[in-house]
Amino acid sequence: MTWDTITLTVEDGVATLTVDRPDQLNALTVDTLEAIEAGLAEAAAEDARAVVLAGAGEKAFVAGADISYMVDLSTPEAQAYAELGHRVADTIESFPAPVIAAVDGYALGGGCELALACDLRIAADSAVFGQTEIDLGIIPGWGGTQRLPALVGDETARRLIFLGERIDADAAAECGLVGEVVADEAFDARVDELADTLAAQSATAMRAAKEALNAAGDGPTAAGLAVERRAWSGLFGTHDQREGMQAFLEKRDPSFE
Ligand code: CAA
Repeated sequence: MTWDTITLTVEDGVATLTVDRPDQLNALTVDTLEAIEAGLAEAAAEDARAVVLAGAGEKAFVAGADISYMVDLSTPEAQAYAELGHRVADTIESFPAPVIAAVDGYALGGGCELALACDLRIAADSAVFGQTEIDLGIIPGWGGTQRLPALVGDETARRLIFLGERIDADAAAECGLVGEVVADEAFDARVDELADTLAAQSATAMRAAKEALNAAGDGPTAAGLAVERRAWSGLFGTHDQREGMQAFLEKRDPSFE
């Protein structure tokens, strides 16, 4: 099945949802986020027993929220964009079967946050992770301030978010951001194998396991996400947000206040 910016296939119980804007490194527009939501609804309707979330092309899983869309947003518009991003992440998190983030290439900003909402993260050798929003004069706005510390610990999350560090797949595995790193050439086969193994388990037990794990207490709270939305959208319209994003689009270094 095809939307403009994603593709969805369902085969032998495995749904593969691919973000398909390779020329923009699969950056997420409003349309793309809405298509992901619709794709997940379709996968659920088709009783998918495992979902693989991937990015099209050779270079990226998802290089974040779309900066050319965000550059001129007002705070209320940014709030709506954050709500949509949170809704998509929640849809992944509450999907009634495991969702694997298959990260081959860049997973930056909102792309990393999308991966954080998945049940499992598997990375190709050459993958690059980062919450790089600080370089744009903003902060993570799609759950990163809440899900990242739960996964990697508070200090590491602060380093990643404050410094906007980009880390390779091995470093991501070391800090607990991904569960498995696979050689580039073996990546697709290993993702298929993992998805098939998950799909072969009892779907009922899997759903129960996911529900119980989600209730373990480490996940994001509604209050935490509301603080993130407020803090994120409040940055829109500031000098540093406008300058950070404009500088990216003009391919130059930003000059922050
Ligand atoms: N939004 C919009 N366009 C993007 C994009 C993004 N997040 N990431 C890449 N692109 C576009 C580039 O503008 C470029 O378009 P043109 O060919 O029209 O110039 C194209 O994709 C290819 O990108 P590059 O030429 O930059 O490719 P590169 O190999 O030199 O660099 C990269 C790759 C390091 C990933 C670099 O593109 C990059 O740093 N991208 C931005 C990453 C980022 O900051 N993501 C966070 C966004 S903010 C966010 O996600 C907020 C949130 O919390 C939700």
